[in-house]
Amino acid sequence: MNRKKIILKKDDIDILKESLSELEKGFKSLPSFKSVSGNKKRIQAVLKEAAQRLQNNFPYFHPLYAGQMLKPPHEIARLSYILAMWINPNNHALDGGRASSEMEKESVAGIAKMLGWKKHLGHLTSGGTMANLEALWIAGQINPGKKIIASSQSHYTHSRISNVLKLDYESVDCDESGRMNIGDLEVKLKKRNVGTVVVTIGTTAIGAVDPLEDILQLQKKYKFRIHADAAYGGYFTLATNLNPYIKRIYKLLPEVDSIVVDPHKHGLQPYGCGCILFRDPAVGKFYKHDSPYTYFSSDELHLGEISLECSRPGAAAVALWSTMKLFPLIKGGEYSLMLNASRKAAFSFYNKLKNDKRFLTGPKPELDIVTWVPLASTITEISLLSKRIFNECAKRNLYLALAELPIKFFNLKDKNIGLDKKTVTCLRSVLMKPEHNAWINPIWKILDEATKSSIRKVERK
Ligand SMILES: Cc1ncc(COP(=O)(O)O)c(C=O)c1O
Repeated sequence: MNRKKIILKKDDIDILKESLSELEKGFKSLPSFKSVSGNKKRIQAVLKEAAQRLQNNFPYFHPLYAGQMLKPPHEIARLSYILAMWINPNNHALDGGRASSEMEKESVAGIAKMLGWKKHLGHLTSGGTMANLEALWIAGQINPGKKIIASSQSHYTHSRISNVLKLDYESVDCDESGRMNIGDLEVKLKKRNVGTVVVTIGTTAIGAVDPLEDILQLQKKYKFRIHADAAYGGYFTLATNLNPYIKRIYKLLPEVDSIVVDPHKHGLQPYGCGCILFRDPAVGKFYKHDSPYTYFSSDELHLGEISLECSRPGAAAVALWSTMKLFPLIKGGEYSLMLNASRKAAFSFYNKLKNDKRFLTGPKPELDIVTWVPLASTITEISLLSKRIFNECAKRNLYLALAELPIKFFNLKDKNIGLDKKTVTCLRSVLMKPEHNAWINPIWKILDEATKSSIRKVERK
């Protein structure tokens, strides 16, 4: 039998046609009209060229892409986003997207519930950066003239956003596991000029979870606001195979003042979907503005009244709503098992690396990110070898990531390595696809070959 190789899932387009006919039924009282859409042949030709241009990409959708924080949208999200494109609603105001605004409110309430909040104020954003910007913008208004502080492993966006908002920013050290160093935090808090501490629930580079337990204790003494950047790690609150430390942190998450979670990271959504949530709905007053040209249709909440961005894609809300309908955010449910699988994948990969004398692992994964270095005689040589292995893997269709991390993240003691640098270029894998767990052996096989070949090349020099 001549079986065709399928790389991209294309047959789901049939479901889209069916749902478009259903959508059309809602508008059947309108007279038909001829749209000014272009000539089909020319559209086809341009689309073909676009498809050819898009071949110039890493295969983010494939399990052999095991590098940066990239997870393909689920087909339900892809299809419902495209379905909504025929309407192209704008969730700024109810006039622009009545149904999709409702879907956004329901989805955001679902995320708040997942995090443990019965009451909240929140909305979707274009991504984690905008969501964090709103959190720090509110924080700056509640504690004017006071500092924002975050760990040296927090996302770079916090120092940059603070700069945009003209808020003072200071960075706190990390310990060897990449978590915020509580001793250094207290040194900073003693100066009594800190208004907000940003707690990262899953750092971008290694997935470390900051010690919220200790930070909440310090809050009692020093009084500050806590913002949790859970852009990457937020959904893991649903995983059932977390270690006891992480479990305790997720349990405490409802005690913070604001939380960012990005559905476009772990939530199976296409890009353009972040989410900001505030515990106290009264912060809505800081968003107050007058607009002479929108909000005509009702007294109900228009999402533009509680968001900094004006026009926003209703399609993002439709995609998220549909995904949450298919995969309810339930501990132990189908989606929760996908997160468990990512953690399992990270552990099984980490254990393989740990048991191989050629490598040294970074901190034990707290979520689903693994970091490691190949051993060599100096830090400079380790960094060069990491880059070589990265390239050799890519030649064999395995796509990893590189990261520059403090050497203290790797246990280099008694290894007889010349410590000629403070940071090292390491290899990094975010194993966030549900499929990754079944692909650890093929990934390992390629990494093994690529490492042997890289070491051979170094020895030949
Ligand atoms: C912890 C964290 N915060 C914020 C961001 C920024 O999010 P975005 O890229 O959606 O703007 C990222 C991105 O990786 C992140 O990992």
